[in-house]
Amino acid sequence: MSIEVRRPLMAANWKMHLSIAEGVSFIAKLHELVGTPRDREVLIAPPYTHLWPLREPMAAAGFSLAAQNCHWEAQGAYTGEVSLAMLAETGCRYVIVGHSERRHIFGESDAWIGRKTAAALSRGVVPIVCIGEKIEEREAGLTEQVLRRQLTAGLEGISLDTPEPLVIAYEPVWAIGTGRTATPNQAQEAHAFVREWLADRFDKAVAKGIRILYGGSVKPDNVDDLMAQPDIDGALVGGASLEAASFARIVQYQRSGKSP
Ligand code: PGA
Repeated sequence: MSIEVRRPLMAANWKMHLSIAEGVSFIAKLHELVGTPRDREVLIAPPYTHLWPLREPMAAAGFSLAAQNCHWEAQGAYTGEVSLAMLAETGCRYVIVGHSERRHIFGESDAWIGRKTAAALSRGVVPIVCIGEKIEEREAGLTEQVLRRQLTAGLEGISLDTPEPLVIAYEPVWAIGTGRTATPNQAQEAHAFVREWLADRFDKAVAKGIRILYGGSVKPDNVDDLMAQPDIDGALVGGASLEAASFARIVQYQRSGKSP
C-alpha cells in the first residue's frame, strides 16, 4: 500500500457555532467555490441539531457529515447523550472522538475515549480520534509519552484489517484556537511518531493507509506548508472553518511537491 492511497481529508469542526440556516448557506457557498473534489474529501462536523437538516445538502454536495461527539452505549438513561446508531441514522459517516475540549473542559478520560472509538468502529462510523499534548507537557519533553498514552487508551482492544475505518487527528492543545500553529516540522515529527506507533500496534501496511490529520490554528496561509509534510493527510479546522471562503481556500490547499 502506498501513501497515494491516503485521500486527504479536509475537515471543518464548527464546534458550537452557526445556525442551521447559516449552515445551509455555508454548504451552498462552499460547494460553489470548491465543487465536489475527487482527489480530497471534504467533511463538516456541525452541532448535533444541524445533522439531520444538513444531511441532504451535504450529500448533494458530495461532502461527508460528522458528529462532534457520541456516547458509546447503544441506548439507555444517559440524559443529554447521543448514540452512534442515532448519528448513523442522521447520515454521519464520521464522529470526532476525544477532542481536547471534551477532554479538558468536560473531563473526558482516556478510557471513555477508548470506549467511544470501539463503539464507533462497531457501528460502522469512522472515529476521528484526537490526541495532543498541552504546552507544559511539550516543554517538559513529554509529547511522545502523552501521545503514546492517549493512543494506547484511545485504541484499546480494537483490531483493524484495513486502514479506512480509522482517522487520527494530532492537535497540540497549545495550538487550538490560539493562532499559534505547530511548525510544519513539529507537526511532521509528531505525525511520523504516530504512524510508527500505529505500525507497531497494527501492521505497517495498515499504518501507511491511516489518515492522520493536523489540527490547531490551521489557516489559509499555513495550510500549504502543513499539507506538504509527508505524514500530514488532512486538517481538522476550527476557527477558519466558520467562513466558507476561508475554508474553501483550506480545502484547495496547493500541493507543493506532494500529490494527494
Ligand atoms: P482551531 O481549532 O482551528 O480553531 O485551532 C481546531 C480544533 O479544535 O479542531
